[in-house]
Amino acid sequence: MSVIRPEIRALELTGIGKIAVGALDDPDVIPLWFGESDIVTPAFIRDAAKRALDEGKTFYSYTRGHRPLREALLRYHRRIYGIELDPDRIHAPGSTMLTVMLAGQMMLRPGDEVITIGPYWPNVVVVIEVLGARAVPVRLVEATDGWHLDLDAVAARITPRTRAIYVNSPSNPTGWVMNLDEARALLALCRRHGLGLVSDEVYHRNVIDGPDPAPSFLTLAEPDEPVFVLNGFSKAWAMTGWRLGWMVTPRGLAEPMAMLAEVNNTGATAFAQYGGIAALEEGEAFVREFVARCTRNCDVVMGILGCHPRVRLARPRGAFYAFARIDGLADGLAFCRKVLAEARVGIAPGYTFGPGNEAHFRLCFARRTEEVETACRRIVGVIDRLD
Ligand SMILES: Cc1ncc(COP(=O)(O)O)c(C=O)c1O
Repeated sequence: MSVIRPEIRALELTGIGKIAVGALDDPDVIPLWFGESDIVTPAFIRDAAKRALDEGKTFYSYTRGHRPLREALLRYHRRIYGIELDPDRIHAPGSTMLTVMLAGQMMLRPGDEVITIGPYWPNVVVVIEVLGARAVPVRLVEATDGWHLDLDAVAARITPRTRAIYVNSPSNPTGWVMNLDEARALLALCRRHGLGLVSDEVYHRNVIDGPDPAPSFLTLAEPDEPVFVLNGFSKAWAMTGWRLGWMVTPRGLAEPMAMLAEVNNTGATAFAQYGGIAALEEGEAFVREFVARCTRNCDVVMGILGCHPRVRLARPRGAFYAFARIDGLADGLAFCRKVLAEARVGIAPGYTFGPGNEAHFRLCFARRTEEVETACRRIVGVIDRLD
């Protein structure tokens, strides 16, 4: 057994998994722990994938993605951002999760440091650590009007070992949406120090308050800069189970990307890619409907949890999470266990989103409104019984 790397043996489930694992199939629990809604992928997307299956799209595909999908992605970027991407820069190798790993594999060597702007999605830190590098968290500033980027705090953590900065906007879990000035300043910092930038834009269409799509580094960075923009189908088109995403890399990496993707998963599922094309080309009405639901649900959460005297919750501006702090709470994991046991609601403990979040919990409000409302009322009941 000693051949197993100790850092692999030490891997634990995230706090999200720890809460969910024992109650995943319990029909009495309202599951607000993961980042997904209860909406089945729209029929026009499913039909496109079914057609592809029936047409025999069951073979290996090019590991950077089928050409028709990559061409659809180029058109999508032209339409929503007004940019013309070099076709060699866009890759659809598999899930968004995989693109995080691929970006890490492209840049990180053991001993490197990555500044992770947090609170952050915990899987990112696992990728960094699995690759032998180290995550250096820098927390956004939490204020009553929302979360803010403290660029000086980021700059202060840069060392000779820093290789890259990871940022996610719209943010899981905080709902922070980076504005263009913040994006320009962060890019300038990366340029000044010769750092890579990984921008996780998987919630780019999940904007509750602000321009749609959310500001993207794609409109700011030059094609040769070490900027990796990650994206995917899961969050905008209700396609979490499809495991399909894409990334835009600097120029000149098509062949290494094809090879890296080959040794990670040998390409995305062939017929799923045709569902992705349908989402990009016919999915605007769905995107708008889903954002309208999330906006309604956000109002419900703010009206119940946001008004509670012990809860601090800034209104999220993007994604579909409430990241709330309970005054005086010492053990957020115990609180989430209590909520699961007593209120039958599944939520995620704050500690898993990085240091400084021990008194927080995350709730996904993408499910149907009545469920979100019931869940919030039950959580309030538990908070009211706390010491
Ligand atoms: C910030 C962030 N990035 C990436 C992902 C991964 O997305 P996918 O399920 O499309 O791989 C998630 C999923 O929750 C996420 O929250």
